[in-house]
Amino acid sequence: MAQPSSQQIIEDQRQDWNRVAGGWEKWDRFFDEQMAFLNHRLVADARLRSGMRVLDLGSGTGYPALLGAQTVGPSGSVTGLDLAADMLAAAGRKAKRLGLSNVAFRTGDVTTLPFEAASFDAVTSRFCLMFLPEIPKAAAEIARVLKPGGWIAAAVWSAPEKNPSLGIAMNAIKQVVELPPPDPAAPGIFRLAQPGDLADMLRQAGLTDVAEQEFLAEWSYASADEYYTSLTELAAPIQNLLAKFSPDQLREVKRHIVQAISRFQRGDRITLPFAVRMVAARKPV
Ligand SMILES: C[S@@+](CC[C@H](N)C(=O)[O-])C[C@H]1O[C@@H](n2cnc3c(N)ncnc32)[C@H](O)[C@@H]1O
Repeated sequence: MAQPSSQQIIEDQRQDWNRVAGGWEKWDRFFDEQMAFLNHRLVADARLRSGMRVLDLGSGTGYPALLGAQTVGPSGSVTGLDLAADMLAAAGRKAKRLGLSNVAFRTGDVTTLPFEAASFDAVTSRFCLMFLPEIPKAAAEIARVLKPGGWIAAAVWSAPEKNPSLGIAMNAIKQVVELPPPDPAAPGIFRLAQPGDLADMLRQAGLTDVAEQEFLAEWSYASADEYYTSLTELAAPIQNLLAKFSPDQLREVKRHIVQAISRFQRGDRITLPFAVRMVAARKPV
């Protein structure tokens, strides 16, 4: 089967994420309560300080751009860039509620950044870079727009076996329909899961002081049902697959997922481990 072009992948991504924007707004509080510490980690790894000009890539509904804006304060600014206008509209509403006037959201593609060279003191990105068809090109763009001495800090998903909340869903889907074996080089949730994947691309782009850590944590759900609902309303790649299923197939997928997830019951909650690869690098001075 012919591989989709980069342009087609980007267009599909835009549509997929616009489709789940309502879900992200609905689950915003839950997500923030469960994962805000990742924003703090990114803000620290990017060495954000008062007065800095920051770019957040694949901002979606505003993570970690909003924390970045609070950190750089009124003398600094954050630009949040994303393909999906509907995700960004939600981010804009949150910025307004927080009274932040130093953050702006704009649509654009990470592989062709619409900014002058050396225009940002730092770059952050949470759960975006693995979805790009041409990650080395994005790494080169990041290196271009950073000022000398500036840091990029990015979070991407680690391996599926360490992320049962995502791996279980894919396994359940595979039990109901046949999926082609995943192409390890194709964009997707686990494209940057291996140690060194993203770090090497950043080095190739000329960045230095590259640091990488697998960051282990947990998130917790009230029930297997809550987990299933959040998954189908938030995870664009999974929603995209399920959209083509018949009601019977959907019931079957849900049954497999609920069964598999139940083994993570701890007390009265479902507690799932997750693993994120945190990568930081610096543009040489
Ligand atoms: C999982 S969401 C992460 C959103 C946010 N950073 C967070 O952590 O909550 C991935 C985001 O990456 C965006 N994205 C995917 N490919 C992109 C590209 N080529 N350029 C810009 N944004 C992209 C999607 O539109 C989506 O909003």
